[in-house]
Amino acid sequence: MSRIDSLIAAMSLAEKLGQMTMTTAGYAVTGPVTTTDLEAGIVKGAIGNVLNLYGAEMVRAAQRLAVEQTRLKIPLLVGMDVIHGHRTIFPIPLGEAALFDPAAWEASAREAAKEAAADGVHLTFAPMLDVARDPRWGRIAEGPGEDPMLGQAIARAKVKGFQASNLGGADTLAACAKHYCAYGAVTGGRDYAETDVSQRSLREIYLPPFEAAVAAGVATIMPAFTDLDGVPMSANSALLKDYLRGKLGFDGVLISDYNAIAELIRHGVAADLAEAAALALKAGIDMDMMANAYRDGLPEALDRGLVSMADIDASVARVLKLKEQLGLFDDPYRRGGPESADVLTARRALARDVAGRSMVLLKNDGVALPMAGGRVAVIGPLADAAGEMRGCWSAAGRAEDCVSVLAGLRAALPGQEIGYAAGVAIESDDESGIAAAGALADSADTVILCLGESAAMSGEASCRAHPGLPGKQNALVEAVLAGAKGKKIIAILFSGRPLIVPEVMAAGAVLAAWAPGSEAGNALADILLGKLSPSGKTPVSWPRAVGQIPIFYNQRPSGRPANPKDHYTSYYLDEDVTPQFPFGHGLSYGDFVYADLGVSPAQAGQSDSFTAKITLINHGLREARETVFLFAHDKVAKVSRPKLELKNFGQISLKPGESGVVTLTLAAKDLMFPGLDLEPLYEPGEVEILVGPSADPGRMLSATVRLV
Ligand code: NOJ
Repeated sequence: MSRIDSLIAAMSLAEKLGQMTMTTAGYAVTGPVTTTDLEAGIVKGAIGNVLNLYGAEMVRAAQRLAVEQTRLKIPLLVGMDVIHGHRTIFPIPLGEAALFDPAAWEASAREAAKEAAADGVHLTFAPMLDVARDPRWGRIAEGPGEDPMLGQAIARAKVKGFQASNLGGADTLAACAKHYCAYGAVTGGRDYAETDVSQRSLREIYLPPFEAAVAAGVATIMPAFTDLDGVPMSANSALLKDYLRGKLGFDGVLISDYNAIAELIRHGVAADLAEAAALALKAGIDMDMMANAYRDGLPEALDRGLVSMADIDASVARVLKLKEQLGLFDDPYRRGGPESADVLTARRALARDVAGRSMVLLKNDGVALPMAGGRVAVIGPLADAAGEMRGCWSAAGRAEDCVSVLAGLRAALPGQEIGYAAGVAIESDDESGIAAAGALADSADTVILCLGESAAMSGEASCRAHPGLPGKQNALVEAVLAGAKGKKIIAILFSGRPLIVPEVMAAGAVLAAWAPGSEAGNALADILLGKLSPSGKTPVSWPRAVGQIPIFYNQRPSGRPANPKDHYTSYYLDEDVTPQFPFGHGLSYGDFVYADLGVSPAQAGQSDSFTAKITLINHGLREARETVFLFAHDKVAKVSRPKLELKNFGQISLKPGESGVVTLTLAAKDLMFPGLDLEPLYEPGEVEILVGPSADPGRMLSATVRLV
């Protein structure tokens, strides 16, 4: 008998349910506050898995209870939200998405895994793969942005980074693809609200990143809190059992979200905890996070005949298998140990590089950036806000380890006097500091205006109906811009979402810095002073107005395309239909001209590929990196296809005057789409290939190929 089979044979029902339970250690708050008697629970075998626990010594002490004091000596599994770094914080995921660089995505996950594993952690609740088209939703900050293909690429890179090639390594974490699925489609951008998406959107937009994570071998998956068309995901047998386990062959552990199984009662699909637990188990969820629904509800569900012991055993087996794969049976203390100073230094360097490359230069009129010499004033509530640089989900990241904009600039410009005034707080009605900030701005040649949201204004349960500048920041902007003549005003936006800030767009340069993490100020100094050219590109369409939301580039054509001169067309009476900045927009200190698109062969069969080659020339005065996007448009198909669909992207770095060729491949099978019956359809015919710097249709070169 295998180790797992003999353990299951020896286990009492309570011990089995303990292995199916994950309880907070309360060492980080990630949900409603609860008190649990953790130690006693572990010793009794009633808690087999813990979340929100870290620190090598703390984990070791808890692990000792499990392996020395429980009857069956099954090691604990320790999970933690290591979302964008552990102690060293990388940019928030939405910011990292702007890199369009799979190697960097993988590298930051690898470093986060090493750092968290050294702190005793075994499992991270990441990557978050919820495609989102609504910046009101606070959790847009945690995900890949609006595009499913981008979500797939991030899924693959992150799973590889966290898990490496062998889950049993001392420096790996089991990854968790979440939140399965369509959580990003919450109605009105309000967290936990209902979701109602078509089967087509599910297949084309929301499922693909999860499919990529499964193909990459993700160890665990977390269902969303939300319902989908009336069926809560924690009870959604069709999508969990039939699709994920059946069709995709996912054999890892399904972990519920925090208290989500008990919330099936509030969703109105279960009358009590026993029913809720039975629905979740029957749907395939193996582990109950923080609802105590399995421990308290499954015994009764068994008595009532709602579940069988075989259902329970199957889940226990999957949990034990994960512990085995993580190497916990062989050495429960394998993770947890000091790291050398060199490792930490290299990690900070990576954090600085990734943070710099996550920043998106939205506008740069009159070459406001990079900064020229002269007197510098750093103004705004985010200028000296080291802790805010962490963004949402900052795991073990400490404010004192983060570099503020002010500190970063002062370190980069030693000996130069740099004026500073906050002007206003992030969220407050107090305008008393604005006059002094305005006066400081007047006395400077360059003003760095640091604006935006606090870290807590995005992430879980942090949705905003007015995703603009909070508090009195607009008044500060007005005061600073009023005296702007003859000076360079550079606005830096810190946020977990694209902010709708028309008033800020009057600044000479606007840089979206998201929440850059521990190395924020140093990375910003690199960009502002021209040591690094910006190269980030926005992974979400940047709206002009809240009324445009949801807004995304990959829309299907209308029978009456927008034409404000023709009344009965698809436009707004009071706003442009285009975004402020399209998906993929981002300037650099280079100046790239795209030329000579060639796509070959002219036609291809289902198992063939096309190759697109495009020449880029940097006519700018500085070396810069450029991301090139390849979109497709199937002009005539059985089902109306989006006007643009991202199919590939690549990068090139060019010195001033240099030119180079970017080669992008496209497999013909990647042009398949769900047909009328929603099954994948390969449809021969013409397809337009469009290559350019963003989803702006006016800036693309195109070629037509034929599928045969
Ligand atoms: C709730 C969140 O939805 C989920 O993303 C997170 O992993 C868990 N809480 C644990 O903190």
